[in-house]
Amino acid sequence: MNILIVGSGGREHAFALKLKESSKCGTLYLAPGNPGTESLGVNTNIKVDDFDSIEKLIIQNNIKIVLVGPEVPLVKGIKDKLTANPLLKDLIVVGPDKKGAQLEGSKDFSKMFMLKYGIPTASYKTFNQKSISSGIEYVSKHSLPVVLKADGLAAGKGVIIAETNEEAVAALKEMISDKKFGESSAKVVVEQFLKGIEVSVFALCDGEGYLLLPEAKDYKRIGEKDTGLNTGGMGAVSPVPFADEVFMKKVKERIIEPTITGLKSEGIEYTGFIFFGLISVQGDPFVIEYNARMGDPETEAVIPRIKSDLVDIFLALGVKQLDKFKLEVDKRTATTVVLVSGGYPEEFEKGFKISGVEKVEDALVYHSGTTFKNGDLTNSGGRVFAVTGFGNNIQEALKATNRAAETITWNKKYFRKDIGLDLC
Ligand code: AMP
Ligand code: GLY
Repeated sequence: MNILIVGSGGREHAFALKLKESSKCGTLYLAPGNPGTESLGVNTNIKVDDFDSIEKLIIQNNIKIVLVGPEVPLVKGIKDKLTANPLLKDLIVVGPDKKGAQLEGSKDFSKMFMLKYGIPTASYKTFNQKSISSGIEYVSKHSLPVVLKADGLAAGKGVIIAETNEEAVAALKEMISDKKFGESSAKVVVEQFLKGIEVSVFALCDGEGYLLLPEAKDYKRIGEKDTGLNTGGMGAVSPVPFADEVFMKKVKERIIEPTITGLKSEGIEYTGFIFFGLISVQGDPFVIEYNARMGDPETEAVIPRIKSDLVDIFLALGVKQLDKFKLEVDKRTATTVVLVSGGYPEEFEKGFKISGVEKVEDALVYHSGTTFKNGDLTNSGGRVFAVTGFGNNIQEALKATNRAAETITWNKKYFRKDIGLDLC
């Protein structure tokens, strides 16, 4: 069975490696893929939002399953476009339609949705250019800190946590009037700050039921002990010790199940991953955000822990049998460490020659921001590799991961050495 993965990061490399383990996986296509996926499938020059070329590729190559990695094509309606073609009526699309992807594509939509279906989240109000004066009045008196979120997609940069009311007023004006995030901040959600510890929970949905995947915790700040600027993600760990049976029961009953019921009530047939960004406030889970996809780098920690055949899982999605799927999970801990270009998330230099990838033993290496230049593998992005190691506990897993992270070298490489240690 031929399969297409849309995307080019470490997440997509992790999916590619896992899918290729299945005897049911025929030719794997990637749009566009990266140097790490070259040996696993057919990389193409097709961009993630070039829907016409993706549609042609699927038809010409008899592709049966499409897995959409990143949020942009989902929010732009890749599923709607593909399923509108009568030739593709049996295509399994792992990813929601445009309406379902609004869970991630519009913070205002997701907050209204949570309010309507009684899903615990921070209290909020939404403002736009028309209501900016009441917005200024509101944030100037709001308890502190206060959280401001651009309504639309902002590549993970659209959240501002203001420590003073003056800062909040300035941020609101910047976002709405100065269009700091373009159209994405034409509307801004202002919400209460929740204090607690974060965890990411993933459910794969088939429009009826769902399959719960292993949870993970990600590390967004560039510096050790969670200091410095926010990044796309510096590492992840799975499982997360505090997400025990009691906590996960609350997550299922208070969050996952009402979300699935809510989606059905809204007439949304949601096929794909829901990423619940949660915060545990004294043991009670609240939703910080929904994403309509798997996380990166969480995927690189979660997917290798799944022992079941991923093609079987996607086939079960196609026939709405996910709630009956018996997922087999590796009990060991996986830690993922992201190797970044020095300077990231600010300016950084590209084009340095990378060595040591082939010397890594007992860890998985996923490419993210690499490219071949004159035959040499070089860094081409901020996040360059995600490396995943395993162990019987976090310390043991991290030892294997950090050993692999040291083995790969290039000029100005940087990585955090403390991923997961806050949970020990
Ligand atoms: P988001 O893009 O919505 O995930 O927000 C980015 C990060 O901001 C989250 O991972 C949290 O660390 C933080 N954050 C967002 N909303 C809140 C909130 N209501 N209370 C506390 N922290 C928040
Ligand atoms: N690691 C967070 C995300 O993928 O959005």
